[in-house]
Amino acid sequence: MVQLSVVESANLTFAQSRPLVAVFVGATSGIGEYALLALARAHSKTGKGIRVYLVGRSAASAKNIIAECQHLCPSGDFRFVQVDTLNLLQGTDDCCKHITKMETAEPFGGGEPRIDMLCMTQGFVRFGAAEITSEGLEVSMTLLYYSRMRFTTNLLPLLLATPTSHPAHVLSVFGAGLEKGANLHLDDLSLTKDPKAHYGFLNLRVHVVHMTTMFFEHLAQQHPGKLSLVHVYPGLVLTPAMKHPSYPWWFKAIAFVMLPIAKRTIAIDPEEIGKRVLFLATPRYPARGVENVRTSGGQVAVAVGSDGTSGGGAYSCNWDGETNDIEKFYVKLREQGFGNKVVEHTDKVFEMVGRGERFEE
Ligand SMILES: NC(=O)c1ccc[n+]([C@@H]2O[C@H](COP(=O)([O-])OP(=O)(O)OC[C@H]3O[C@@H](n4cnc5c(N)ncnc54)[C@H](OP(=O)(O)O)[C@@H]3O)[C@@H](O)[C@H]2O)c1
Repeated sequence: MVQLSVVESANLTFAQSRPLVAVFVGATSGIGEYALLALARAHSKTGKGIRVYLVGRSAASAKNIIAECQHLCPSGDFRFVQVDTLNLLQGTDDCCKHITKMETAEPFGGGEPRIDMLCMTQGFVRFGAAEITSEGLEVSMTLLYYSRMRFTTNLLPLLLATPTSHPAHVLSVFGAGLEKGANLHLDDLSLTKDPKAHYGFLNLRVHVVHMTTMFFEHLAQQHPGKLSLVHVYPGLVLTPAMKHPSYPWWFKAIAFVMLPIAKRTIAIDPEEIGKRVLFLATPRYPARGVENVRTSGGQVAVAVGSDGTSGGGAYSCNWDGETNDIEKFYVKLREQGFGNKVVEHTDKVFEMVGRGERFEE
């Protein structure tokens, strides 16, 4: 486990040493909110300036969170970008266009328009049957995988515009390391060809986790020295998601009994997880090809990438900042060209939906 004092010190260096532009998607609640507050707190009154685009549905929640951020960090420029829903990739595309337009019209700090950090926590795991959207995609797969990869690729021009000495950081909070529990359906990556047979809570998780690992590795390889991408399992965090009205009665009953116990035992404190998510944007997780990182705090031990390479650029992390030992899950898949299959599939989804067509395998 990375000690909390190490996390806090690295976060301070990250938030204080240079002006930052960050995009938080899904931070109107829960872990995204905690990570945003951690950034505002680390920057506080003494950082070099910060601009945050907070993407979400609820204007009321955003207003309260921004007020708290502004209190912690009075000089910060916190902007709410409202979306109707990210269930459709069209919503993601519109949102990215809006952010790109705002940042380009008035680049933060007056230099090149850029984004230093993109943190994504949108969506949650729904129980029950698959729900297919008008774009031909499953709703949870869209929120947990496609919209996150789409935010990343749409915002790439701004993410790649950070100064050479500072790669941009992309963070996705979901289930890194949880590759086990169900079979991958290699001929139905989207889980829409035969949702009755293929879709379920565990299949969804296993598909999202494998596909995120592969797509992040692809982007890290395409942009060495420029882009660090981390997906993370946050452990159990008692966020509003635990009491989501859509959950079935049996989940609510278990939650009613277990959550008070979990709160005293295994649950991770919201403020701590906020700091730990922010930490994933620090030099311990560098862009590919950057092996020795020196900061004002000294030499940083670089994490091992999901492909087993030190400083591989794409990382699968546990909540405590350690990388997951996942290579064994991918040996056979890599031999079968699984990475290319995921990238081709994702590109095909983006092309079809981008043309206004309904996706079909
Ligand atoms: N909490 C945990 O213990 C835990 C454990 C493992 C993994 N995770 C994963 O971590 C991520 C964050 O979890 P959390 O507990 O922080 O959840 P949360 O409190 O429910 O936050 C989820 C965020 O996603 C947004 N969102 C949901 N559906 C959306 C939609 N259709 N369009 C746009 N935005 C949408 C929510 O916006 P609204 O405020 O508008 O609803 C909210 O801001 C999720 O992917 C979750 O699966 C959490």
